[in-house]
Amino acid sequence: MSNLTINAGRLLGRIQELGGIGRDAQGRLVRVAASDMDRLGRDRLVGWLREAGLEIAVDRIGNIFGIWRDDANAGQAPVMLGSHIDTVIDAGIYDGCYGVLAGLEAIESLKEAGFAPARPLVVAFTNEEGVRFSPDMMGSLVFAGGRDLGEALASVGTDGTVLGKELERIGYAGIHEPGFLKPHAYVELHVEQGPVLEREGIAIGAVENLQGISWQRITIAGEANHAGTTPMSMRKDAGVAAARVIGFLADRAGASSTRTVATVGTIAFEPNAINVIPSRATFTIDLRDPNETHLREQEAALAAFLDELAASVGVTIHAESLARFEPMTFDAGIVSLIEDGARAAGLSCRRMTSGAGHDAQMIARIAPSAMIFVPSRGGISHNPAEFTAPGELVAGANILLGVAARLAAD
Ligand code: GLV
Ligand code: MN
Ligand code: MN
Repeated sequence: MSNLTINAGRLLGRIQELGGIGRDAQGRLVRVAASDMDRLGRDRLVGWLREAGLEIAVDRIGNIFGIWRDDANAGQAPVMLGSHIDTVIDAGIYDGCYGVLAGLEAIESLKEAGFAPARPLVVAFTNEEGVRFSPDMMGSLVFAGGRDLGEALASVGTDGTVLGKELERIGYAGIHEPGFLKPHAYVELHVEQGPVLEREGIAIGAVENLQGISWQRITIAGEANHAGTTPMSMRKDAGVAAARVIGFLADRAGASSTRTVATVGTIAFEPNAINVIPSRATFTIDLRDPNETHLREQEAALAAFLDELAASVGVTIHAESLARFEPMTFDAGIVSLIEDGARAAGLSCRRMTSGAGHDAQMIARIAPSAMIFVPSRGGISHNPAEFTAPGELVAGANILLGVAARLAAD
């Protein structure tokens, strides 16, 4: 198996083709989970899985599996290779899609080479991004038993839709119970989405851990009043309070010694008028840290700040948790297999922490898991400018192929 390589043209062609599916009138890639655009992408993926001779299975949370099963390996726990194909709004084409299509490519290459595996299959998880329905990594979380299926299907989206109904509408409310397959191992190949590999000139990241993630929605209630007549001392300005929270988070994360990052990515004021003091501000906080103790300290400091702020600005503040995931350490054995594969291929490799959330974080709860990263140009992601050079994509997929073959031979 050592000389086996993936079909580079097929993989790169599919990445481009999938990247062209699910674009809005302005040309933005908007394949957000369980939308009509997501359906188009899913349909194309299922077509490829079928062409590869894989058995298709969809579970009740909409995760798609292409299973390579034969008489010799029936009943064996599978090696899962995958990621997600849902996207953020105005996304790049690699995030998630690369891992799914490279997983498919690895399986097809092994099939074509006459490899007789104990196991493999490929998977695309539902709603990894969490843009429309919270939390993120929902499909893998439910699959791993970390969230009740009914609760997840009842999730209300940012557009007022219900996930379960949307999955039915797009034809991806499957029949299998999440968790119907018990993985032997899970390997996710992904673009780094950060600057480390490019900056250090390294080809392959062997991802050994992933930072903790805390998502909250904050609602601040003040009082609407006239912008011209209300003295500054008499205001209950929800907008000012929101701005102070943003400043607090940026200052605190900026001063952190443990790589805390904090983002306010959405905000809405009411009534949202130029000459009315905001009566209400609603915004989200995405807070992350590789160290659970530090993440808890940051959450506690934020909660204390919100209490003080409510008193000093004369507003009421409500904080709601949308997602909370602890940092995850991946399987040391698979991380070593990735390093061995890179070394054998003559590629530079380093161990690293993932800044982004990934499905591997959830599947690691139920099976040995790890991730492979390839460089992202300029560290840019969640942006249409996201880019990884074709040669780097192919190199990463070949490492995945080798690791999959090793795991499937067990
Ligand atoms: C997933 O893309 C995340 O928010 O890390
Ligand atoms: Mn992703
Ligand atoms: Mn993403």
